[in-house]
Amino acid sequence: MQDSNLNIIIKTLPGLEKVLAREVRQLGGREVEEIRRGISCRGDLGFVYKCNLWLRSALRVLVELNRFKLRDENHLYKMVRNIPWEQYFEVNKTIAVDATVFSDRFRNSLFVAQKTKDAICDRFRDLEDKRPSVDLQNPDIRINIHIQKHICTVSLDSSGASLHKRGYRVEVDKAPLSEVLAAGILGLIDYQGKGPLIDPMCGSGTFLTEAALYASNIPVNVFRKKFSFQHWMQHDTELYQTIFDAALAKENQELPKLLGYDIDPKILAKARRNIKNALMDEVIKVQKRNFINWPEEAEIPAGATLIMNPPYDLKLEADIPELYEGIGNTLKNYFPDCTAWIFTASLEGLKHIGLKPTKKIPLKNANLDSWLVRYDLYEGSKKHRE
Ligand SMILES: C[S@@+](CC[C@H](N)C(=O)[O-])C[C@H]1O[C@@H](n2cnc3c(N)ncnc32)[C@H](O)[C@@H]1O
Repeated sequence: MQDSNLNIIIKTLPGLEKVLAREVRQLGGREVEEIRRGISCRGDLGFVYKCNLWLRSALRVLVELNRFKLRDENHLYKMVRNIPWEQYFEVNKTIAVDATVFSDRFRNSLFVAQKTKDAICDRFRDLEDKRPSVDLQNPDIRINIHIQKHICTVSLDSSGASLHKRGYRVEVDKAPLSEVLAAGILGLIDYQGKGPLIDPMCGSGTFLTEAALYASNIPVNVFRKKFSFQHWMQHDTELYQTIFDAALAKENQELPKLLGYDIDPKILAKARRNIKNALMDEVIKVQKRNFINWPEEAEIPAGATLIMNPPYDLKLEADIPELYEGIGNTLKNYFPDCTAWIFTASLEGLKHIGLKPTKKIPLKNANLDSWLVRYDLYEGSKKHRE
């Protein structure tokens, strides 16, 4: 772990690999390469701290301990047991093992996780006559094991709980977006933190809060209290504090207009609490408004970007065709010279927007196939059918 050339693997959601790679390069990662649902790169322990604090589109940051050609389950046990775990954490720490398996020979990730846990515990028992306890919900130490065909990678997870748990969002309502997905979408639309941004169906305020943190140049995980690396023997509290303080000193005070609306006042109350937790209540303004009944007199900041995640299925109790047709009409009638991005899992809904999309990016929202669709609006936008 004192190595300045650690192999680091950073995980993300499908479709966000390029956004993550760009973030990692900007942060100073070396030898950045895209992999399935993540990137690999090299850096030192300080860089691992920076990744956890700064990366908006990352789910977790892993430090590779060993990579080998895997023969069978006994080989797995032996190779895991050979890793000097006692050099990374003390026996009194709680542990959990996450396993992902893409292999014909090993199909059962639970079995792989169990075997790995046994090998670690047996090593500690031999050396210290004690073994770490397992805590699946909230462990101090997370171990990650990844099997791709016959290649096995064993890593320590420096993040612990997924990095979408920023620490600011305490209130959610119907179908909130993952913070990582929201931040990744802002990356995909190339939001630079400069021009005005409007989310007319803001729900719990995720897009707006992520945009405000980005525009302020504040590390997105500044509010988070816990990372797994704090339990590592190699954890350097002084180095971490220096990196944390230096990150805060980069704050940008000149912020664009960030406006949110929602039809539901109860949801807006929750959004306001989240926004306040993120210390962005001076920056983001939200108010009740029905997007498909947009007031004639409402002022639209010139050149605004709209980003919205309308209700997309019956669970959200909306008449999808009518709602999306209304969205299209409001965009067409009230937002000339703006760019609108709609993120939705409803292909049916998109058919009713009635405007010609200029880009369509496939993504996933949890397990749902979804699309991020761009509409370039101009004075007198004509109604185009897809
Ligand atoms: C899928 S949720 C948005 C979730 C949001 N992106 C978040 O991260 O919490 C859809 C939101 O659209 C709102 N909504 C539905 N119809 C609306 C309308 N006509 N005008 C404004 N908001 C509307 C709902 O109240 C709900 O909060």
